[in-house]
Amino acid sequence: MGLKNSPDNYGLISKNLHWILAVLLLLNFFLGFIMGDLERGPLRSSLFHFHKSMGILLLGLIILRLLWRVINTTPIHLSNNQLIKRISKFVHYSFYLILLIVTFSGWIYSTARAGPVDVFGLFYMPAIVEKNDVIGQIAKDIHIYSVYIFISFVIIHIFASIYHHFFLKDKTLKRMWY
Ligand code: HEM
Ligand code: HEM
Repeated sequence: MGLKNSPDNYGLISKNLHWILAVLLLLNFFLGFIMGDLERGPLRSSLFHFHKSMGILLLGLIILRLLWRVINTTPIHLSNNQLIKRISKFVHYSFYLILLIVTFSGWIYSTARAGPVDVFGLFYMPAIVEKNDVIGQIAKDIHIYSVYIFISFVIIHIFASIYHHFFLKDKTLKRMWY
């Protein structure tokens, strides 16, 4: 298996990025919900810190993946149905867009509330806005709504994979696996 994509298969770099991102994104998604329900205290603070650090790491991986997609070929879609092909393309591109909105709104929200974001205690992401409660509230709403849109796309995406694998019985899922 090559590192790069070919017209009928995903390469190792795309596969690794796809599955590492999928696991980390879902983890951060559940963490986001759990941490919000906790009482104020050290556990809540550490989980918030971890969620934000992971979010910034994910932002980096998303940009990397987008660049890799742009400079690489994308394997040919296996369905002959034009509508399915269009929906698939739409969902795939929307993933990148919605994930950029999720991460940037999280970053803006954090800096509007608390200034630069400490990433795993290693470095700081600069504040991209001034401290401001109104901006903070708007960014928080965008973060939460965009996360819901993201997760509905994930659900559609998983159903599509299952449909390809068990009903159409084509190679769609296999060629994204190892
Ligand atoms: C990469 C993907 C990310 C995902 C999937 C994600 C997901 C979530 C979810 C599900 C929540 C809970 C929403 C709710 O309570 O209804 C949340 C809250 C939050 N997220 Fe993220 N997030 C991400 C990135 C980030 C980033 C990059 C930052 C900041 C640097 C961030 C900062 C926050 C903060 C501060 C909250 C708490 C909101 C509050 O309850 O006050 N998130 N996130
Ligand atoms: C957070 C979760 C996920 C995200 C954000 C995501 C995102 C994406 C994106 C953007 C693509 C397009 C290919 C590319 O640009 O490199 C893709 C392809 C694919 N994903 Fe996911 N994915 C996720 C989870 C999953 C899961 C859980 C499965 C399996 C059950 C899955 C199965 C596939 C398959 C089979 C393809 C190839 C589709 C094709 O060849 O047309 N993904 N995914």
